[in-house]
Amino acid sequence: MSDPTPAHSIETMLLEERTYPPPADFAAQANARGDIYDVPFEEFWEREGRERLTWFEAFNELYEWEPPYAKWYLGGKLNVCFNCVDRHVEAGAGEQVAFHWEGEPDGETRTITYADLQRDVVRFANALKKLGVRKGTPVAIYMGMVPELPVAMLACTRLGAPHTVVFGGFSADSLSGRMNDMKCEVLITQDEAWRRGSTVPLKKVADEAMADAPAAKSCVVLRRTGNDVPMQEGRDHWWHELEADCSDDAESCPCEPMDSEDLLFLMYTSGTTAKPKGIIHTTAGYLTGVAATHNYIFDLKPDSDVYWCAADIGWITGHSYIVYGPLCNRTTSVLYEGTPDFPDKDRWWSIVEKYKVTILYTAPTAIRSHMKWGPEFAQQHDLSSLRLLGSVGEPINPEAWIWYRENIGADRTPIVDTWWQTETGMILITPLPGITTLKPGSATRPFPGVDAGIYDEQGNEVGPGGGGYLVLKKPWPAMLRGIFGDDERYRETYWSRYEDVYLAGDGARIDRDGDFWLLGRIDDVMNVSGHRISTIEVESALVDHHDVAEAAVCSRADAVTGEAIVAYVTLKGGADGSVEKLEELRNHVAEKIGPIAKPANIVFTPELPKTRSGKIMRRLLRDVANNRQLGDTTTLADPTVVSEIAKRATEEKSEDA
Ligand code: WTA
Repeated sequence: MSDPTPAHSIETMLLEERTYPPPADFAAQANARGDIYDVPFEEFWEREGRERLTWFEAFNELYEWEPPYAKWYLGGKLNVCFNCVDRHVEAGAGEQVAFHWEGEPDGETRTITYADLQRDVVRFANALKKLGVRKGTPVAIYMGMVPELPVAMLACTRLGAPHTVVFGGFSADSLSGRMNDMKCEVLITQDEAWRRGSTVPLKKVADEAMADAPAAKSCVVLRRTGNDVPMQEGRDHWWHELEADCSDDAESCPCEPMDSEDLLFLMYTSGTTAKPKGIIHTTAGYLTGVAATHNYIFDLKPDSDVYWCAADIGWITGHSYIVYGPLCNRTTSVLYEGTPDFPDKDRWWSIVEKYKVTILYTAPTAIRSHMKWGPEFAQQHDLSSLRLLGSVGEPINPEAWIWYRENIGADRTPIVDTWWQTETGMILITPLPGITTLKPGSATRPFPGVDAGIYDEQGNEVGPGGGGYLVLKKPWPAMLRGIFGDDERYRETYWSRYEDVYLAGDGARIDRDGDFWLLGRIDDVMNVSGHRISTIEVESALVDHHDVAEAAVCSRADAVTGEAIVAYVTLKGGADGSVEKLEELRNHVAEKIGPIAKPANIVFTPELPKTRSGKIMRRLLRDVANNRQLGDTTTLADPTVVSEIAKRATEEKSEDA
């Protein structure tokens, strides 16, 4: 593992002295007020579990902790779809808007109330039943940001069928890998998705994936763009045809009573090997965790707020803070299909103005893109409805934080910088907007009922001013319940460094006020535009190309994407690289993993720097990629390799310029 507290981050911390106490009017109306931090751990989660959810049968034990496995709300029975949809309709809120959906092609919108959502979910759940989907049937979902995506997820939860949603930018290999790991029997997809005015061929990719995923017997296809796609007789079904004769009456498809610990979904994420990890989330703890955090951190007022989380549902942020947390809290949300710059760079701000969005939650990489485009696009629109901003996915640099606050938040709105992971399920370190004094670049404090700390190598908690490894010392309701089918990897990845303490894989520092500053990953996981990509995964994709002998991948700093991927490649037979070869390799990675994993730079080199035991020295490659002074090279088998690579990298940069 590398040093968790790189020197440049310490610098940022010392320079950042600006503070923003909560505005008095915000504090006076906030959901989280007063002594919330003083409520004891058990009392806090007991109350949240009882009051935030509706139970078919009450739980009788708060939690059970047999490290490294936790169970929460034992003995309880409930249904996620019931909590997110049916109970709101039963309580008379059927006419409230659940989603203001905005399609990418301009002018296309749909308004979906909670009553609409219930009808759509029931009808589709009945359709899935025709394909044999029952409690426990694993279902894969591969779609764009259309209303039918949350409908499909909710239909699964209504039936008690666990799902895995695969981001629409992933390749056929990535999709079939996940489907095979979970043994999915049904795949739900769409003909094509819209992206920046052109179409993404989801069904075509789904067909390739199905060919490699023998357990998947049926495929449901939503018609979105309307273009022709091949349909395989007997296997493929149009969504609208399959559900045409299905009832949308809630009583025709009651919500399946589930145990608190029944599997809700798997979300795959990159680790330090080529194989993604299937992170397990279960029912009651997950729902309590995401609903409680969504309520307090976003200060959600179901009767007046218009909330917009601009992430993709294909990632954990979309699961927890577009679908499950917000719907459980009876939120009115915006759901947007497209990209921020289509048809123009003011698209987001026109959406904020149109729907009078009050809460906006996005990622630093998006904020930095808007920063690069300039504030004039935001200035064309009335953003005065905004009262709270959020950030997630990577450390937010103070410049971006200030830009966000001044240009989007009128120098008035609090910003909640929320730290969490696919594994944590819910936000764990974050300000509470009516209580916390904000510091640009700091995620501030652990959420109430969360016990986080920073440890040194020896496992001692560091004091104020110290830095080290971010850990969680107690279980929390939405925590992962393991890695699907891989107990050993679960123990090894998160629980082997310190006894019975969760290692998050992030470096962090704590300042003299007790505020946390996240410093990025400490393992071989890169964070590109807020997406986790493993160096090894990209290396495997490169080596998979017939001309590549060896590859080493690391990241460099990038002004927009946070980190950018740099690959060092040795071609077979000592062949020289070329511009054509470079493009070919980049496309090969896109095909194997997905376009998000394309290296920004490829440096061709006759040899890679290795230790005498044959390990590639990524630390040195990172130094070269970032133009830093080279670190210690004494353990290298052949020290001249690095200077040769540095020379080639520099030549490449001057050619770029
Ligand atoms: C990083 C996304 C700093 C971190 C919800 C973590 C952050 C990884 C923040 C998880 C933040 C996320 N400040 N770093 N506010 N939020 N990260 O699984 O390195 O896609 O380990 O979950 O993103 O990424 P994941």
